[in-house]
Amino acid sequence: MLHYSIFLKFCHFLNENAKKASVSSSIVLEYDRSHKGENQLSYRIARAMNDLTKPFKRLPVALIGTGSYVPETRLTNSDLEKMVETSNEWIIERTGIEERRIAAPGEKTSDMATQAAKRAMEAAGVTAEEIDLIIVGTVTPDTFTPSTACYVQANIGAVNAAAFDISAACSSFLFALKTAVQYIGCGQARTALIISSEKLSHIVNWEDRSTCVLFGDGAGAAVLRTGTGIEGDSAILASDIGSDGTLTDLLLVPGGGSAIPTTEENIHEKLYTLAMRGNEVFRYAVAHMKDSALSLIERTGIKPEEVNVVIPHQANLRIINAVAQRLGIPVERVFINLQKYGNTSGAACAIALDEAIRSGKAKKGDIVLMVTFGAGLTWSSAAIRL
Ligand code: ACO
Repeated sequence: MLHYSIFLKFCHFLNENAKKASVSSSIVLEYDRSHKGENQLSYRIARAMNDLTKPFKRLPVALIGTGSYVPETRLTNSDLEKMVETSNEWIIERTGIEERRIAAPGEKTSDMATQAAKRAMEAAGVTAEEIDLIIVGTVTPDTFTPSTACYVQANIGAVNAAAFDISAACSSFLFALKTAVQYIGCGQARTALIISSEKLSHIVNWEDRSTCVLFGDGAGAAVLRTGTGIEGDSAILASDIGSDGTLTDLLLVPGGGSAIPTTEENIHEKLYTLAMRGNEVFRYAVAHMKDSALSLIERTGIKPEEVNVVIPHQANLRIINAVAQRLGIPVERVFINLQKYGNTSGAACAIALDEAIRSGKAKKGDIVLMVTFGAGLTWSSAAIRL
């Protein structure tokens, strides 16, 4: 009882202090800005307020840096012609992919993630100590446990961070973004590092022409931080995630988990590799990507013509064209790099975001609409002002 009354007094103290400082999140952040971010008192009050009082105003979240990494080794369509019964023409016509990158044998998912993370941190101008949350999206973790995020944390020396993985296949980067936005928005984290990294070459059946021509390896990362909330400054404007667990059998790695544990026999059957019903996945991909992106357009009130750059999941040029057409956004405003890297699952849109920014295709102040789709089935989208 005594503890409870101390707790109530503490809540009252926070409320009173917040009222004195006219705590709305924009004013809190204005205070931070005027002190060049050095004095974190306002942030701490906002965080405590969000912990203890309801309803609260969410803190804005900004994207402050991106980075990416792809391995050096290129696997071209003509290389694949020597491995399976396929042709450069078929792959380009049906997918748009010309080549993909393959990680070196000893190169782990966490190694690629670390490279992308370091580049994103450098672009953002943040130190490892400032990061308080690391989320890695991957379907090819270094180990089942510990998480790949923990390996990355050790590699970069982010001693103050909590680190964990999420699994949402090709949608994982935007699932990670949405998760980080919740933490930062509630004041539970201030600087988050989100990464998607994949060594898909490890789970591809190199004898199956219907899948092996599609996938590649790589990693993309971004740093998110409490934003200013000021019109025109960087902000995650909205994000959307969704899943349909009745369609797990369309795209999966059937073996190696608790359902079908690894045995000598199923290693020979290659049950540890990706199996996909491509045609059906294609159909759902177009429908869900369109619906998810449109839901953001409606929620934010952004008109399609106000979107400067669309960054879709880089799986298939025909899917990208179909989605752009359904959104009424000309394909010239869509950033495409799948011809160079193929489908790198969750890393694909993260790498594309970084390349769009570094190449100047997406500039400060631009509205970027990201939209992805993957196994699960899962889908996700995000509207970001750079
Ligand atoms: N080379 C030559 N022929 C091929 C190849 C190949 N690499 N692969 C398949 N074919 C053949 C098929 O055997 C079939 O031959 P048939 O008519 O004699 O039976 C024919 O080409 C047509 O096959 P489809 O599967 O119908 O080809 P489709 O036009 O659908 O293209 C593809 C296949 C590229 C896989 C397409 O369906 C696709 O991109 N699907 C979506 C994949 C996707 O987006 N995945 C996203 C998530 S990935 C993740 O989450 C990890």
